[in-house]
Amino acid sequence: MSLWEELRQDCLSCQGCELCKARTNVVFGVGPTDAKILFVGEGPGAQEDLQGEPFVGAAGKLLDDMLSIIDLGRDNCYIANIVKCRPPQNRDPKPEEQDACIDFLYRQIALLEPKIIVCLGRIAAMRMIREDYRITREHGTWVNKDGVWYTALYHPAALLRDASKRPETFSDLLSLRKKVQEVF
Ligand code: URA
Repeated sequence: MSLWEELRQDCLSCQGCELCKARTNVVFGVGPTDAKILFVGEGPGAQEDLQGEPFVGAAGKLLDDMLSIIDLGRDNCYIANIVKCRPPQNRDPKPEEQDACIDFLYRQIALLEPKIIVCLGRIAAMRMIREDYRITREHGTWVNKDGVWYTALYHPAALLRDASKRPETFSDLLSLRKKVQEVF
C-alpha cells in the first residue's frame, strides 16, 4: 500500500473525536499528490459530508471561481481541511477536535511537500500560521515557515455572506498568482 493510501485508510477509519459519530463521510482531501499548492479550509459542511469531497457546496463553487481567476484549478491544487468530519450545524471545530485531527493534515503536508499553503478563513489561519492570527488585518500577507510560504484568504463562505470583502480578496488572489510565478 502506498503511503497516501495508508494515510487515507487511517483517516477513513478514525474515531478520534466525537465528530465521527454523526458523519456520513470522512472528507479526506482531493487533488494531485504532486500539487505545489495546498488550500486548507476549516472543516466539511453538509454537502461535503454527503459527497466525501472538500468544498463542493456553495462556498466550493466560489472557491473554484477564485482559483480560475488566477489560472488555478482542482487539477493543480490540493484541497483539504483542518478537521475531516463535519461539525454539527457547521459550528467551528473545537480545539480538542482540531487536536485529534491535525496529524492527518500534517501527514498530508509531509507527503505533498507543498511550496505554498493558503489558509481559507480564520480557523485555518490560526491553526496553520499563528494562534493569534487576525484575518481582517492580515489576510493576503505572506509568512515563510521552514521554506514553505503561507498566506490566508477570507473564507469563501464569508465572501458569500459579505460581498464587500471581495475586492480585498481579488488583490490577495493577484498576490497569490505572483507568488506562484515566483516560487514554481
Ligand atoms: N468549508 C470548509 O472550510 N471546508 C469545506 O470543505 C467546505 C466548506
